[in-house]
Amino acid sequence: MSRKTVKPKGSLIAALDIGSSKTSCFIGRVIDDNGTLEVIGVGNRQSKGVKNGSIVDLDAAESVIRQTVHAAENMAAEVMRGYPLREIVCNVSGVHANAFGHSVKVDIGGHDVTENDIKRALAKAQEKEAKDNLELLHTIPTFFRIDGQDGIRDPQGMFAETMQVDINLVTGDAVALRNMASCVERSHLDISSLCVGAYASGLSSLVDDEIDLGCTVIDIGAEVTSFAVFHSGYMIFCDAVPLGGQNITNDIAQGLTTSKEHAERIKIMYGAAIASQTDEGEMIDVPRLGEEGSGKPNHVPRSFLIGIMQPRVEEIFEMVRARLTDSGMQNVIGRRVVLTGGTSQITGMRDLGGYVLDKQVRLGKPIRLTGLPDAVSGPGFSTVAGLLTYAAEHIDEMPAEIMAQARPDSFVERAKLWLRENW
Ligand SMILES: Nc1ncnc2c1ncn2[C@@H]1O[C@H](COP(=O)(O)OP(=O)(O)OP(=O)(O)O)[C@@H](O)[C@H]1O
Ligand SMILES: [Mg+2]
Repeated sequence: MSRKTVKPKGSLIAALDIGSSKTSCFIGRVIDDNGTLEVIGVGNRQSKGVKNGSIVDLDAAESVIRQTVHAAENMAAEVMRGYPLREIVCNVSGVHANAFGHSVKVDIGGHDVTENDIKRALAKAQEKEAKDNLELLHTIPTFFRIDGQDGIRDPQGMFAETMQVDINLVTGDAVALRNMASCVERSHLDISSLCVGAYASGLSSLVDDEIDLGCTVIDIGAEVTSFAVFHSGYMIFCDAVPLGGQNITNDIAQGLTTSKEHAERIKIMYGAAIASQTDEGEMIDVPRLGEEGSGKPNHVPRSFLIGIMQPRVEEIFEMVRARLTDSGMQNVIGRRVVLTGGTSQITGMRDLGGYVLDKQVRLGKPIRLTGLPDAVSGPGFSTVAGLLTYAAEHIDEMPAEIMAQARPDSFVERAKLWLRENW
């Protein structure tokens, strides 16, 4: 990916993931010229006021965000030397985002394609899509066509009359984003950029070959399962379904008539997505609802618990499969899937996912950061980890940067451009 601009060595970047179950903040420092990041501060708190990826109680969410960011700042204090954080990159839950393909043509006029021509094409697509109720999140050029020649990945330096660019545009719901911005700004932070959660999860958990050859990352969280398709080095599609591990916990609480707290513990200790020979006959203790500590627990076969969990996990994978089929991208999606997010840790997820999706599945977690403390290195932290990578290495895909850079530098260039586009 030769067009990539990376943040300079020494830059500090802060990232915030406001999830349905937890709010996490990572502060990272760029330690070399390739954009490699070292984590210098982390904060993680149970979310409040967040439901299905949406902020529903501004005060509650804001207080958790403040505590989380402070915890990360305190840990990073020595490196930050008293400078408070001013900006932060935030995730946008997939339920508030929409991705769609776009194609624009620009006139090059026989000269060699420059960085500016590309920015101009992207800005043209952005202008077409500007709507009041939507905010542009990502403008990702995927393929270029030069005078009819297909499949070009980097046209810079090539001579052309016209250039056509295929673009993956991702928009976010402006109202949901305004609520989030208002919470974050109350903590005296500006949002430097926004990134779809599943995109970030892919950036942190996929290896380069997967991003290049084709792979789908599925982040199964607490109340949202979001996914992103990567191909030829870029994210080409993303979407989400409003289901996750909390739905599984609720099913267990109902099915075993126990509290949500016990259901959550039982899910993590004994749960599985698929039955195996070894759990035949194994029994588990389930405290009865309202009789915790006093009455005798119920003895329930573990297979009964798995029987409650399996249909819900299947439903989640089936919904993802349906969305992927509807996206019309089956041909480029490839055979590889990486599962991440807190709920990917349920035993047997890989097998059941492989079966329902008919793909080769592996489990993924953040792999690109150095200095990550163990407690925050699991699959639940793929999103926040990837936000750092996004902010460090994907500046070229940020709509505001594109608009700012798409302007010709001098009056003469502006005049030439005007003549080319109008004559
Ligand atoms: N060891 C484990 N085994 C099974 N499930 C787990 C485990 N650890 C966490 N979970 C589940 O993972 C979910 C939380 O995942 P995650 O932290 O990715 O969600 P989130 O980012 O807060 O929410 P979302 O992305 O849905 O808005 C919870 O439902 C929790 O029960
Ligand atoms: Mg999440």
